[in-house]
Amino acid sequence: MVLQVERAVVAYDGRPILDGVSLSVRAGEVVAVLGANGSGKSTLVKAAMGLAPLVGGEVRLFGTPLKKFRGWHRIGYVPQRVGAGAGVPATVGEVVAEGRLARRGFLRPASAADRRAVADALEAVGLADRAREPVSVLSGGQQQRVLIARAVAGGPELLVLDEPTAGVDAVSQDLFAGCLRRFVAQGGTVVFVAHELGPLRPLITRAVVVNRGEIVHDGAPPADDDHVHPHAAAAHAALEVARPAGAGVWPPADGRAHAATGDARTVTAGVWPHATAV
Ligand SMILES: Nc1ncnc2c1ncn2[C@@H]1O[C@H](COP(=O)(O)OP(=O)(O)OP(=O)(O)O)[C@@H](O)[C@H]1O
Ligand SMILES: [Mg+2]
Repeated sequence: MVLQVERAVVAYDGRPILDGVSLSVRAGEVVAVLGANGSGKSTLVKAAMGLAPLVGGEVRLFGTPLKKFRGWHRIGYVPQRVGAGAGVPATVGEVVAEGRLARRGFLRPASAADRRAVADALEAVGLADRAREPVSVLSGGQQQRVLIARAVAGGPELLVLDEPTAGVDAVSQDLFAGCLRRFVAQGGTVVFVAHELGPLRPLITRAVVVNRGEIVHDGAPPADDDHVHPHAAAAHAALEVARPAGAGVWPPADGRAHAATGDARTVTAGVWPHATAV
């Protein structure tokens, strides 16, 4: 088993966010983690990476309990958002080269294999010609692609991606889907969070739906994007009421709840796929 999360409980300030969640991922699977804003998708992924405080349950990576796990070079992780204004100005090439560090050690100089892996990863996300530019001059979607390239450059066996295609245009999404397809064809395992599957849908072997800190569906992927957010309309209504002042353009152009800044935990509507079975 590549990843095992067993009865994981995560709480912030005493407030339970994950409530005994279990998720096992085998080698070669491509698992999409779906659910409304604030449902706990990122928290689940962070718990699996040892980045969220686990107050109960257990996580195993490649069969090893998290505390004893040292094989981080086997995992490429892309967090949900690029932190704005990271102190040191790094170039695109440098950031992607960081993805090789766990593999080669901090003090050894980059080998030809390291440089080739970085070049290949940049090529795969369509940024080969931007390697020498500071990351800060890139657009948000391009920065996201830099992080994906960094995760891929390390030659991982497991890719964990939190909304890898959010804010990424259609052409880049296709590019990314191709990149993932090659990764999976070579035996890689993928867990990714998404609100819209788009060109990634054909790659998915399994979908997990998180709702209020619990997994409410684990199995067949949804047939189309309408079912990724089954209660988008209900969530939209709830968020509209809860809309913070100055939240920008509202409603979002595509009418989907995920574009909002609100928290949909208050939504009590039915849960996919049950809603679609009606
Ligand atoms: N570090 C933290 N401290 C306190 N609360 C947190 C923290 N991280 C997440 N939460 C809370 O946990 C809940 C789940 O958040 P999480 O980021 O996992 O949601 P999500 O499903 O990834 O949502 P989105 O689709 O918006 O990314 C939210 O209510 C959020 O406010
Ligand atoms: Mg998230």
